[in-house]
Amino acid sequence: MELFMVTSNIHKFVETREFAKEYGIKLIQKNIDIQEIRGTLEDIIMAKAKKAYEEIKTPVICDDSGFFIDSLNDFPGEFSRFVIEKIGNEGIIKLMENKESKGAEFRCMACYFDGSNFKLSLGIVRGKVIDEIRGRFGFGYDPIFIPEGFTKTFAEDFEIKMKTSHRKKAFTGLFKKISETK
Ligand code: IMP
Repeated sequence: MELFMVTSNIHKFVETREFAKEYGIKLIQKNIDIQEIRGTLEDIIMAKAKKAYEEIKTPVICDDSGFFIDSLNDFPGEFSRFVIEKIGNEGIIKLMENKESKGAEFRCMACYFDGSNFKLSLGIVRGKVIDEIRGRFGFGYDPIFIPEGFTKTFAEDFEIKMKTSHRKKAFTGLFKKISETK
């Protein structure tokens, strides 16, 4: 089975393509320019999937993700892309300087839309923010995040990211739901 993944982020696509293989799904990247609405991860991704379907008239999958830091009241959350573009991981490290609690999580909302039905699946990975940038793999906040139970950042150990990430959990759940209804 082939499915279109709507994203302009090659990192997301490469990660998700691996998870899809386990379910016999071949992913094809579709880069469609869609203006994101404001709202929760769920609102954002359902609106995006709907617009993408209207354009290509074929079932689509996509995801909206974010980085949520406990001591910053879940900031940057839904603003993760904007914040990393503006202040980078250096800026986050500065904001965290005097914070005792370092807890944080990535959340990923994966979505499938076939023109009439939505399927959604949420994946979360908990961990902590560190005070330096470590590693060269992955993207975004990966170099400052260590998942619970490990000592390396997602950007230092990409295998750990592929096994434990928010995206892995979200899409495994989504692909299971899709396979069950085929
Ligand atoms: P998007 O809106 O789903 O494209 O994601 C928003 C931002 O969250 C991205 O630009 C990244 O900075 C960050 N992000 C999302 N997923 C990840 C990830 O797996 N690792 C690191 N950062 C991520």
